[in-house]
Amino acid sequence: MKRILVISGSPRSKGNTYKITRLVEEQMVVRGDVAFEYVSVGKLNLKHCYGCLTCMKKGAEKCPCKDDALMLRDKMLATDGIIFSSPVYVHTVSAVMKNFYDRFAYMCHQPHFRDKAAMFIVTTELTGGRETLEYMRFPAFTWGFKMCASLDVVYPGFMKGGKYREVMLNRISRAARDFYAALQAGDRKPLFRELMFFNLMKTKVTVHKEFLPEDYNYWKRREWLKRDFYTENNVSRFKSAIAKTMVDLKVKKMLKSTGLKDLQP
Ligand SMILES: Cc1cc2nc3c(=O)[nH]c(=O)nc-3n(C[C@H](O)[C@H](O)[C@H](O)COP(=O)(O)O)c2cc1C
Repeated sequence: MKRILVISGSPRSKGNTYKITRLVEEQMVVRGDVAFEYVSVGKLNLKHCYGCLTCMKKGAEKCPCKDDALMLRDKMLATDGIIFSSPVYVHTVSAVMKNFYDRFAYMCHQPHFRDKAAMFIVTTELTGGRETLEYMRFPAFTWGFKMCASLDVVYPGFMKGGKYREVMLNRISRAARDFYAALQAGDRKPLFRELMFFNLMKTKVTVHKEFLPEDYNYWKRREWLKRDFYTENNVSRFKSAIAKTMVDLKVKKMLKSTGLKDLQP
């Protein structure tokens, strides 16, 4: 059985976003043995980030916010796939969803989800769907997820019926198919941009090792600092060398243009 966690950023637990997610669930259940669990981040006790960077300096366990964050992290780690969902609020995610991303910002430096798949759902009255999906995909990419389908649904258009509803029902069905397939698949070849990101982060945690020691130690404990990618299976040495060279050039340029050139790793 594959376990799927839905992280919902809607304050309306049975609202439009939930209804679209349920359609995905229905499509997945007919494909095989899957179990869905819904978590509404606005209903959890998740304090706002204090900005102390303790999670990156000493580890998330030492975070001064004593709330549901560690419980939610463990729940996410115990699943096979996550659906990130939010209504569009002023062209981006809802405030509770933004808070969720802020609280797990350390995972952008400490990727936890290499073996899991992610899907994305946003609903809107009309505008901002694409921008919001783009916003939501970035943290999931940096957290290491296998990036699957994305759905942005203009809910009133969907409810009105007609051609738009038909198109959306097709997209929902394809999204469920792709997400289901990603849950079954094993280790995968890294994409070029994943190789780039891996090298960028390796450099970043090394440059900041005194400032953010837990980020560095997280990579060191996993022996990633010695590697070309999280797992070296399926990694093309040639692609990896190009990714590394491109990142080195980019980092050098950034350090030079910001006057930080003495911070070479
Ligand atoms: C505070 C707020 C801001 C919103 N901003 C937008 C917006 O920028 N563009 C838009 O098309 N719809 C906007 N909406 C409408 C919601 O995105 C839309 O109704 C959504 O489907 C609600 O999902 P839910 O029922 O799951 O909460 C906004 C709604 C609220 C309450």
